[in-house]
Amino acid sequence: MDSAAPKGPGHVAVIMDGNGRWAQKRGRPRLFGHQAGARRVREIVAACPDLGVKYLTIFAFSTENWKRTQAEVSGLMSLFRRYIEREARTLFERGVRVRFIGDRMKLDEKLVRLMDELELLTADNDLIHLTVALNYGGRDEVARATKRLAREVAAGRIDPEDVDAETLARFLDTYVLPDPDLVIRTSGEARISNFLLWQSAYSEYEFIETLWPDFTAAEFAKLVAAFQQRERRFGAVVS
Ligand code: FPP
Repeated sequence: MDSAAPKGPGHVAVIMDGNGRWAQKRGRPRLFGHQAGARRVREIVAACPDLGVKYLTIFAFSTENWKRTQAEVSGLMSLFRRYIEREARTLFERGVRVRFIGDRMKLDEKLVRLMDELELLTADNDLIHLTVALNYGGRDEVARATKRLAREVAAGRIDPEDVDAETLARFLDTYVLPDPDLVIRTSGEARISNFLLWQSAYSEYEFIETLWPDFTAAEFAKLVAAFQQRERRFGAVVS
């Protein structure tokens, strides 16, 4: 690779916020905003190859989102099911490998089956790696990883003295993914809400005002270009 070429964010993670406000502004139910948000996911995934973004990770449902009204939660769950059913073939044909991260235990059986099938269908794709965080929370992920690691220690397969950050990372849901280079949050909120806590230790952040259903491929391209101007030091001093 040409060393003078701008280094793009190979992995972009997105907190897709603002669907509810987008709908409210139009006097429509919140689910209308989530539906518009789902259409944006399609557009942003399609934009990735040209932007050099190989990994895209999106926050679809957090471990805290269960606190929403039952109507909104079940509306979102059926939106996820329909989205997988409708998009599976297109994702497969476009070379997208889909993975899900988060705790599947609390999700309904039919949704989990669709998730498993989509992962299997796209397992040999390598153009774009789309990871969907569903019933995901960073603290929950670290706790689940720690539990699995503790079991290995208890079984005598790992020496506690050998445990370091890399050991724990192998037990995270994201163990096969690179860390995100850039994390984008839409809708003007400047917080990370329990998203990829461990993995984003050195990520660059963009908090933008746009509500997720208004986020276009053109705006995405601008953020990618802005990232290329940033100097990343990873804690070191660059002369
Ligand atoms: C945050 O907006 C959005 C969510 C909790 C749901 C994200 C889901 C989608 C974009 C739907 C499609 C996703 C897939 C993978 C099919 P909010 O409801 O918190 O908005 P608000 O802050 O304006 O209330």
